[in-house]
Amino acid sequence: MSEATLSDRGRAMAQTSLKARLQPLLCNLYHPKDNPNGIVDMGTAENHVMTKDVSSFANTKIRTSPHDFTYGEGPWGSERLRTAMANHMNKYFQPFSAIYPNDLVFANDITSLCELFGYAIGSPNDGILISRPSYQAFPADFGARAGLKCVFVSFGNVDQFSPAAIENYESTLLEARDQGISIKALLLCNPHNPLGRCYPLAVIKALMQLCNKHSLHLFADEVYALSVFSSSSPSETPFSSVLSFDSSSYISPDYLHVVYGMSKDFAAGGLRLGCLYSRNTAVLEAVSAVSQFSWSGPLNQLFAAEMLEDEEWKSGFLERSRDALKERYENCTGVLNEYGIEYSPGSNAGFFLWVNFRPVLDMTDHKDEWAAEDALVANMEDNGVYITKGSLLQAEQAGWFRIVFTQEDDVMQEGFKRLFHAIGAKKVEV
Ligand SMILES: Cc1ncc(COP(=O)(O)O)c(C=O)c1O
Repeated sequence: MSEATLSDRGRAMAQTSLKARLQPLLCNLYHPKDNPNGIVDMGTAENHVMTKDVSSFANTKIRTSPHDFTYGEGPWGSERLRTAMANHMNKYFQPFSAIYPNDLVFANDITSLCELFGYAIGSPNDGILISRPSYQAFPADFGARAGLKCVFVSFGNVDQFSPAAIENYESTLLEARDQGISIKALLLCNPHNPLGRCYPLAVIKALMQLCNKHSLHLFADEVYALSVFSSSSPSETPFSSVLSFDSSSYISPDYLHVVYGMSKDFAAGGLRLGCLYSRNTAVLEAVSAVSQFSWSGPLNQLFAAEMLEDEEWKSGFLERSRDALKERYENCTGVLNEYGIEYSPGSNAGFFLWVNFRPVLDMTDHKDEWAAEDALVANMEDNGVYITKGSLLQAEQAGWFRIVFTQEDDVMQEGFKRLFHAIGAKKVEV
């Protein structure tokens, strides 16, 4: 391999390689019978518990036609799919103003839509503000080709789900500006990945006002909107979409955008399908202008339309999914409690918990805590279990990890067994 044959851009892109990091895992996944020595994946955010349900729906319900094997209506999403999604969002997101099919543009996933949006609203080295910790792919999504920089906001002891956090966003924006980075947008991941919490309306409104003050786009990633369950936590906040109230006095509709898709709430990441909602037709047109590079085929669009249109199946599916998430959240927190392992409280959404392994960071041979975190990861890998380390998720402190709990019970049990062996955890005496 000769890196000399690459441009600077090619080399920078190669450094973001997902393939290098994930292929060894994804090609060797643990299965109790077929691959017992494989790696237990408690890191990738997929709802494995619900994929059987999706597959049986597809096998019984879906029939193709010759048209589904053509280029179809293009990459932007067929009229049928955009109508189905608009109806779905009108029902489940309770928007203040109705969503119309023409407010939506589809691409092959939210990953691509982040990039396309980045192209549309920024230039290389412009910035996008994101709270930390954060979903690990955003830097590559916005940065690898569109060249935008993710500028992460730290909170220290401030709760980022409280209005006090707005100051942290603003001071980070001003510091970035002093360093020559022009911030163009604020990304709000709600429900939050990896914290699994929802933002209260008061915070959403205050963030809109901040965006308005500094002419920032508010880009709301609501991909976990319906993966919200009741965790009986006193600090639990229900999900409210940025579209669920009259926001016109806080932010211009031209600056408000939402991404949503099939990967999480519909347990169908393999469909590679997501959409951008915006009332800003210039943004929708700019995104559509280059979306042929991010084209989800008509077969995928057909599958998604069928799922979105079948109201009876969908409401049953979403209810089963919420129940499964709640049960798995309770199992996972139960196990962590038994072993005296701390996790971030108040989560009631998503597929994961934010877990504190700082007490088991071994500092003896390492220059700093981040190196000790890497050593812990290597130890977990040696034990055949994968969870996502905080440094990939922009954690403020080393030693925090994201554990995904949406695997089948036997996989979770094996994963915890390996994890506890790796970190030397013992049940706490009661
Ligand atoms: C917050 C968030 N946004 C976007 C994505 C990616 O979505 P897609 O599969 O549509 O690219 C993920 C996947 O983990 C995610 O957690």
